[in-house]
Amino acid sequence: MATAAADKAARTEPGEAAPPAASAAHTAEQQAAFDAAVAADERIEPRDWMPDAYRASLVRQIAQHAHSEIIGMQPEANWITRAPSLRRKAILMAKVQDEAGHGLYLYSAAETLGTGRDELLDKLHSGRQKYSSIFNYPTLTWADVGAIGWLVDGAAITNQVPLCRCSYGPYARAMVRVCKEESFHQRQGYESLLALSRGTQAQHEMAQDAVNRWWWPSLMMFGPPDDESSHSEQSMTWKIKRHSNDELRQRFVDICVPQAESLGLTLPDPDLVWNEARGHYDFGPIDWTEFWDVLKGNGPCNEQRITQRRRAHEEGAWVRDAAAAYAAKHAPGSTTRPDTAAQHGEATA
Ligand SMILES: [Fe+2]
Ligand SMILES: [Fe+2]
Repeated sequence: MATAAADKAARTEPGEAAPPAASAAHTAEQQAAFDAAVAADERIEPRDWMPDAYRASLVRQIAQHAHSEIIGMQPEANWITRAPSLRRKAILMAKVQDEAGHGLYLYSAAETLGTGRDELLDKLHSGRQKYSSIFNYPTLTWADVGAIGWLVDGAAITNQVPLCRCSYGPYARAMVRVCKEESFHQRQGYESLLALSRGTQAQHEMAQDAVNRWWWPSLMMFGPPDDESSHSEQSMTWKIKRHSNDELRQRFVDICVPQAESLGLTLPDPDLVWNEARGHYDFGPIDWTEFWDVLKGNGPCNEQRITQRRRAHEEGAWVRDAAAAYAAKHAPGSTTRPDTAAQHGEATA
């Protein structure tokens, strides 16, 4: 029965509505093919059938990721004009540009799922979609740039390396390049903090103060504890996510403790201690009240970040208009396409 119905559905011309029974059977077969592909660790590609909920979940996650990349440019760009040397300035400019690039790869990945960039940006600007709460904290001193590189980019890598094996092909492939660049970001942050930590007493204190302020928000970047995370379980089944929030957070803590020792800096948690039995570092309780409060919009910089983002978008309108006009002019078959031969003639006349 199922075969006959599927056969009938397969013969349905594109654009022609299949009879309801045939359509249901077709979907069941497609669902089975999708499940088998995910189970076999194959990639789901844009042309493949996928469940609506899988598509919606990916769009939500990729959009939030893309928004975080472009909003994340703000706290650090704040220091470009005040970087302490030409070398540091060049590194910081390259890093901030990388983050813009990450945003572009990710908006493009979302576009392969049928959701346009305009729609996603509109949702960001109107507060209907979120970005990572970490970027709602201010960068008070130059050492914050180092602390962000070491801790925030470090946490991002811990989160994103497993995404290189995400079941959705375009997202997984974007992550490969993003992770290579994030790795450079993390190292430059570490190296900058090391220079400060080994510098004057005032520089060392500035580095310690930045680490004190960024440590806990960095741990919150992994999201709520597993038993409170609404999307986690389904994402794991779909192999969008490979590890739970708590698992990744623990991995990050285990990586950071020896690095902090090498930096000569202290992590602001008196409960941090090696647990021989677990083979991991134990750490103190996270203030989730602060996390939910910042997420609701009450962080120190929520208002500033979104206002600046909206302004940047408005000020960039002429660039988008010009690019669209240029593309229309040069589209095949365009009647407004300039006569290049005549232009050459004019130029050489
Ligand atoms: Fe990034
Ligand atoms: Fe980064």
